[in-house]
Amino acid sequence: MRLKLGLIGFPINHSLSPWIHHQFLRKAGIAGDYRLYETSEANLEKTILKLKEDNVNGFNITVPYKQKIMPFLDELDSDAEKIGAVNTVVNDKGKWKGYNTDGFGYVQSVKTAHPDVFKENTKVLILGAGGAARGIYRALVQEKFHTVDIANRTTNKATQLLELKEVQTNTNVLSFEEAEQQLMKYNFIVQTTSVGMKPNIDEQVISLRNISPNTLVSDIVYQPLMTTLLKEAADFGALIHQGHAMLLYQAQLAFEIWTGEQIAAKDILKQLDSRLR
Ligand code: ATR
Repeated sequence: MRLKLGLIGFPINHSLSPWIHHQFLRKAGIAGDYRLYETSEANLEKTILKLKEDNVNGFNITVPYKQKIMPFLDELDSDAEKIGAVNTVVNDKGKWKGYNTDGFGYVQSVKTAHPDVFKENTKVLILGAGGAARGIYRALVQEKFHTVDIANRTTNKATQLLELKEVQTNTNVLSFEEAEQQLMKYNFIVQTTSVGMKPNIDEQVISLRNISPNTLVSDIVYQPLMTTLLKEAADFGALIHQGHAMLLYQAQLAFEIWTGEQIAAKDILKQLDSRLR
């Protein structure tokens, strides 16, 4: 029997997820398909019925339905519940359970490429407080860093992330101006907003002029792979981490939830890199 996987979202016709999951299926020696279920909001319910009819084994959910999928699920993983968004569903004998693999996928992507940043005295700054930031913040505080601060254009929204913190970590909420002024104290900066994404490739959330050398700057935007923020970071001698790694590792974790198989992602990352250039 072929494994039936897929993706719901809009627009998704240029999604790289089918390519990634077909690589995983091939490496795992599992016969299967990963189909795109592109749907307008008006047709979301119909599309969900179609997934039930097709008896899919698992699927991903992307923008703009990561919250809208939740009422259709039978069960929620506790992280997904806290984060308030689901990007992965597994079909367990007809019961749908929702997970969020974005935050842990992100952390795994950094651990693979920059393990040295995972130290107790590391001070982290997250830029942004949207859906992506929620998952990343929750996963980062569980890594027991000294500090995980959050800066956002709307500081009220950043304050809402504090409810996700269950582990003893220092978190300060900052404006972008405050973050720019104090930038030298951070060892690891994570950009989680859509600022800098195609077609607005010249935009950048904050200036990095006060950054310390050897700081790791990570941007979750992967179109383009080299954002203006990462270019500036490299110009100041910082280390950089590009956004396609998160795309790959959140998929790796989703695939593991569906199949129990953890597929080595390093060489797939290289191929993904050349597809995005
Ligand atoms: P996602 O689910 O992709 O994270 P989101 O929940 O809409 O998307 O969150 C978008 C994030 O990008 C927020 O932090 C948002 O800032 P606000 O909370 O102030 O809205 C940030 N963002 C989007 N456009 C921005 C811009 N032009 N300048 C600064 N921040 C921006």
